[in-house]
This record gives sequence, C-alpha cells and structure tokens, in this order.
Amino acid sequence: MKTSALTYTETIERETASIRSRVAGVVDERQWKHAAPYISAINRLKKEKNAVILAHNYQTPDIFFGVADIVGDSLKLAQEAAKTKAGVIIQAGVYFMAETAKILNPDKAVLIPDREAGCSLAESITAKDVLLMKEKYPGVPVVSYVNTSAEVKAVSDICCTSGNAVKVVNALGASRVIFLPDEYLARYVASKTDVEIITWKGRCEVHEKFTPEYIRELRAEHPGVTILAHPECAPDVLSECDFVGSTAQMSDFVDEKQPPRVILITECSMSDNVYAANPKLEFIRPCQLCPHMKRITLEKILHSLETMTHEVVIDPAVSAQALRSIERMLEIGR
Ligand code: 13P
Ligand code: SF4
Repeated sequence: MKTSALTYTETIERETASIRSRVAGVVDERQWKHAAPYISAINRLKKEKNAVILAHNYQTPDIFFGVADIVGDSLKLAQEAAKTKAGVIIQAGVYFMAETAKILNPDKAVLIPDREAGCSLAESITAKDVLLMKEKYPGVPVVSYVNTSAEVKAVSDICCTSGNAVKVVNALGASRVIFLPDEYLARYVASKTDVEIITWKGRCEVHEKFTPEYIRELRAEHPGVTILAHPECAPDVLSECDFVGSTAQMSDFVDEKQPPRVILITECSMSDNVYAANPKLEFIRPCQLCPHMKRITLEKILHSLETMTHEVVIDPAVSAQALRSIERMLEIGR
C-alpha cells in the first residue's frame, strides 16, 4: 500500500479543532498529530468523490469521530446503507458489513479499506453447511446472523443482527427455527423466546474470551458498577451482567441512564467511543481487541478513497438471493 507522508500544520490544527476536542480523553497528543492530517485529507476527498463512510461502533475514535458519516451497530449500518444517496460507500468495519452494503447497493461502488478484515463467525459456516442443515430439518426456517457471507445469506430465509434477533425469530411465527452461526447469540435468543432454536457451533473469537469469573472479579473490584455485555458472550457471562444488548443498545443505555460507573463487556474501541461521548462517567475499560476491525486505519481509508479499492464484488445471482433475506430483516426493523 502506498503511504502518503502527511504533516500536521496550523491549518490542519484549526480545521480539525472541533474533532480534537471530542476525542481529547481517548487520543493523546502524539496520536492526534499523526491522525489529524489524515482526517483532513479524507474529509476533503470524501466530498470530492461523493463518498459516505459507514463506521461500526468498534472502529477506533480517530475514525469514529474523525471521518465517519454514519456510525452504529450492524443493523443501523445496514439501514443507512439502504437509504444512502452517496455514489461511493466506504465500509469502516469488517467484510460481511461491506458485503451487506453492496447487496443493498448493487449499482454503487462499495469499498473496504482492507479486504482481509474478516470475522470468526462469518468464517465458521458455508452455504453448503446451511443446505445440509436444511436437509436435516426440512421446512424449518433459517435465520442467519448478518455476520455471515453473502452465500450463506442467499440460502437463508431471513437475516438478523444482535439488535433484532429475538424480534426476527418471533416474527416468523414458527415453533422451531435454525439460527446460524453464533451458538451463544442463539442461546441468548432461546432464553428470550418460546421458539425452539437449533443452532450452529460458531463463536466470536473476541467475546468468547470473557469468563464469568472475570466479570465477578470486576464487580468486586469496582463496587456499584453497571456491567453491560454483548450477546455474543457465553450465557454464564451474560448472567453476571446487568444489561445485554447490541453495540448500539449498550451505547444508548449509557447515554440515557448515565450509570456513574460502567463497564462494557465487548470490543475495546467501543468503550473508548462511548466514554468520549460521556466523559463525566467513570469508565472501567477492560479490553479485548477484534483483530479484524483493527485492520481498518485512517491510512487505509485514505488509500481506499485515492485508489477506489478494494471494491466488493458479489455474484449477481447470489446478491439477489441474499437481498431477499436482508430486506425481510429490514422490514421487521429493530
Ligand atoms: P452489533 O450488531 O451489535 O454492532 O455487533 C456486531 C459485531 O460484530 C459484534 O461483535
Ligand atoms: Fe466478528 Fe467478533 Fe470481530 Fe464482531 S468482534 S467482527 S463478531 S470477530
């Protein structure tokens, strides 16, 4: 990748001052002097190219506050991708999110700054695996988490995200559903519905690292703390927490309830971003990095815009089938 040597100037300092103040608590001076010239260049080029940057809540604060036009959980990013009028979409997130944006915008250029930004859940299952499950359980509807490939979505009946999984499962009106591929999210959904859930063995490599012992230790060390967790964590971890929700639902909970001491049991950058927006709250920030999300950097976003790479390409037949599953989910909403 070509790296442009960018320097921090007084003009850049002035141009980016309002962003600097938003990230002051989570980006130090040295990091800022490196980031600001990229933020300035990306924001300029984005306008020239009529591009929009969709950034997931796990993106680092320089991206999240500096260059993103839309931020949110997987569901919000899909909803916004379906509405955008921009000519070019840059996905600051992982590959399945970029594929979802492309499926919803087959005629637009959808770019991912690093095509290796994968996801352990998406990699845990293939379309062939889904077809075998369908053979084993004939007539049972298949709900696929959006953390899957376009091919898996294409052979599913409907998609869901962690923000609407229970609602999607209940909306099917079936007594049994196949819920793929996240075993833990499936077990969380099963605990919230009477529908029988048949699951797969996929795991998020980030959330599976948290243990119930660790949550108990955190609670003992930080009396009065409110602990929020993502439903990709194991059930015995979730049962130690005070609130379970998607990344956006955790962020909304903090914005609305303003718990004085808070811990988010999820990816590191999410805590930085929610803390930056709520600097008066005390955030204890235990950290598990998603190596895939962290592949996306300001340098790569700038390179992506300059060179219009890496364009997401999906077989049109697969894309049309996958669109059905995504649109059914969007009709149900959050
Ligand atoms: P959300 O849909 O909650 O944003 O989660 C996506 C994800 O990849 C969590 O690990
Ligand atoms: Fe996938 Fe887990 Fe990373 Fe989310 S945090 S993108 S589920 S590996």
